Amino acid sequence: MDLTDIWPPYGVRITEADLELQIMRESDAPELVELVRSGIHDPDRMPFLFPWTRRSDHEAPAEYMRFMARTKTGCTPDDWDLQFVVRVGGELVGTQGITAKNFPVVRTVETGSWLALRHQGRGIGTRMRRAVCAFAFDELGAAEVTSHAFQDNPASLAVSRKVGYRNNGTRRVARESELAIEQSFVLTPQDLVRTDPIHTTGAGPLRSFLGLAGI
Ligand SMILES: CC(C)(COP(=O)(O)OP(=O)(O)OC[C@H]1O[C@@H](n2cnc3c(N)ncnc32)[C@H](O)[C@@H]1OP(=O)(O)O)[C@@H](O)C(=O)NCCC(=O)NCCS
Repeated sequence: MDLTDIWPPYGVRITEADLELQIMRESDAPELVELVRSGIHDPDRMPFLFPWTRRSDHEAPAEYMRFMARTKTGCTPDDWDLQFVVRVGGELVGTQGITAKNFPVVRTVETGSWLALRHQGRGIGTRMRRAVCAFAFDELGAAEVTSHAFQDNPASLAVSRKVGYRNNGTRRVARESELAIEQSFVLTPQDLVRTDPIHTTGAGPLRSFLGLAGI
């Protein structure tokens, strides 16, 4: 047996040209923590509902390890969180996640992502979101993909629209103790804007692991 037989998410690989998504492993932590420390957004902005990027350099590394461990131990067929590290030409640039609750029945996944500041604005965010949405529809049998972004996050809003999501209402939320408006989006398989070919390996064992054999 190897590790991917025991933990099938580790066997999944999604590629589009030089872009590659693989499930986050402990061995990615040093690069990930460096990337987080290099900056994800201007300090006077907050793109995340839970402001995890405010952690000090002292707290951040151990908290990131705890996040990675929670993500793995909490991953069951009824409640899963698949966090992919994203590499371009082999260099780690950010993460792309999909989460779902009661997926075998509901068939909805939610996307969430970030790139280090120095890798933003070059189309990578659009490519990685498109790749993971294609994976959710084609390999996991998702019926819809949802996403949320604050109305003052134009890059994230633009990515959702370019990939084909439609507006799906707004939510009033407390962000760092102040009111913020979050835009909700929904994407269906027929609305996904497909461009470059996307290749996946390791999806079969993942489907069994997630209780989706036979979809
Ligand atoms: C959101 C994020 C993943 C997008 O990735 P990215 O690689 O920067 O985005 P892309 O380059 O693929 O595309 C961004 C699109 O947004 C548009 N955009 C960026 N900034 C913009 C602005 N200020 N106003 C309007 N459009 C803007 C770009 O023009 C581009 O569209 P185009 O290709 O049609 O020109 C990335 O910016 C990021 O990680 N931000 C910080 C964390 C974050 O916000 N995460 C999401 C939380 S919901």
